[in-house]
Amino acid sequence: MDNVVDNLTDPILQRFAIGIAEIDLQHRRLFELLGEMQGWSGTDLERVASLDILDSLTEYAHVHFSVEESMMRMLHYPHTAAHIAEHKRFVDTVDILRHRLLKEKRCIDLVAFIKSWLVDHIDRVDRQYVDYFLARGVEPTAFAPEANAIGEEPRRYSAAAT
Ligand SMILES: [Fe+2]
Ligand SMILES: [Fe+2]
Repeated sequence: MDNVVDNLTDPILQRFAIGIAEIDLQHRRLFELLGEMQGWSGTDLERVASLDILDSLTEYAHVHFSVEESMMRMLHYPHTAAHIAEHKRFVDTVDILRHRLLKEKRCIDLVAFIKSWLVDHIDRVDRQYVDYFLARGVEPTAFAPEANAIGEEPRRYSAAAT
């Protein structure tokens, strides 16, 4: 992938690209993890797989939110507090739904919440900082491929782990 911003063959990048490559790759990773979770739905391993993938997703979301929030603080973005509050709402709600999943077998609510939050937040809230960041010198095409390969190894589950 030479230039993420210009690469419109990836459907998730095509739909959700906000125009800052490093951020777009992080968003794509979050969608990939969500897709992995959806792929296990309805199977006997739904619960154990979802809990495992959720750990990776929350860990990666923490990294991603930290990157965005650091950039906002460094650039004196005027809507930083409101944006951080949106991130916190995600973390708090996922935590509640995770506890529910520990008692239940299915994770429909969890997947639905993560999907709707990601779509709304990226499309509506993250897009709001793009022009501000670019006007203050953020390089839109810079990214580190190795930093975005975290946790991409294939996962293996067995019925014994349920
Ligand atoms: Fe984001
Ligand atoms: Fe954000």
